[in-house]
Amino acid sequence: MLFLGLESSCDETAVAIVEDGRKVIASRLISQTEVHKAFGGVVPEVAARRHLEVINDLVAEVLDEAAIDPRTLAGVACTTGPGLIGTLLVGLSCAKALAWSYDLPLLAVDHIFAHVCANYIDTDLEPPFIALVVSGGHSQIMHFESYKQASIVGQTIDDASGEAYDKVARLLGLGYPGGPAIDQAAIKGNPKAFRFPEGMVSGSDFSFSGLKTAVMRTVENLEAQGGGPLPVSDLAASFQDAVNRVLFRKTLTVAQSAGISQIVLAGGVAANSDLRKRFEGLDHMRVFRPSPALCTDNAVMVAAAAYYSGEPVPFSVSAYSRQH
Ligand code: KG4
Ligand code: ZN
Repeated sequence: MLFLGLESSCDETAVAIVEDGRKVIASRLISQTEVHKAFGGVVPEVAARRHLEVINDLVAEVLDEAAIDPRTLAGVACTTGPGLIGTLLVGLSCAKALAWSYDLPLLAVDHIFAHVCANYIDTDLEPPFIALVVSGGHSQIMHFESYKQASIVGQTIDDASGEAYDKVARLLGLGYPGGPAIDQAAIKGNPKAFRFPEGMVSGSDFSFSGLKTAVMRTVENLEAQGGGPLPVSDLAASFQDAVNRVLFRKTLTVAQSAGISQIVLAGGVAANSDLRKRFEGLDHMRVFRPSPALCTDNAVMVAAAAYYSGEPVPFSVSAYSRQH
């Protein structure tokens, strides 16, 4: 079964066709990073307009590359939320038009589920597993009992981990997007140079807002002392260590106490090289990590999710901004 997937929840416009949720047939993606860099973050109106300018061409290119009659698709799937309403509606309107004109089922895909489904591409992963979903908008540990059934076991009580990466990067003058910049800067830094707190939350939940404040205070103190340029690499490495330490420990604890021997990483922060390394070589635990390009927003994961958990919906369906 071939599904066409569309993604426009934030600042990536993407279209892909995936076979049986596992094999990429064709994929196109245009990132708006350069457009939003000047503003230091995503400007929703600008993002929506840019999606509108490029999405039809991407659909045409993907159908062309796959060399299939669109009427043979099993359905057209689209991210309906959570995300930016204006940008989501561009993808959804495009999906509705395609489904209507080719007489195909329209499928709604949840963005969080889609991130997790990136792990099915080219693997033999099957539920049950524990998923660590870490992105710009979400940080949660989920227990997938089946392809369609998942429960949240732990989540952030304040900032998402990607949000913390972005805010700290701005503080350190590393620009936008912050995650990849911190990842790079941290390679040359000492993670033990500063001992930042992990966030005092018991159980499986996280908190990253105190950590962000701790980095801010340290930067202020260093600047007040004078003494040359900020040790940006050490600060980046120490911050990254504090975030990843807690993400790793809590995810592993959840999996072990649930007696589950598979962990999957998902979302933009799962592209982080240090976080990926921490999960390597664990005893009695299979760990799945999508390629970095499939960790950040893309349409391959949407087309995969369509196969495993997409819900056929009426044309009256709308988008939603927050998780439900
Ligand atoms: O999943 P995603 O592309 O979009 C959302 O659904 O939010 O995640 C974007 C987030 C941003 O906060 C970005 O800074 C972070 O993922 N990110 C990273 C890395 N690459 C992207 N964070 C840490 N290390 C990275 N290499
Ligand atoms: Zn995302």
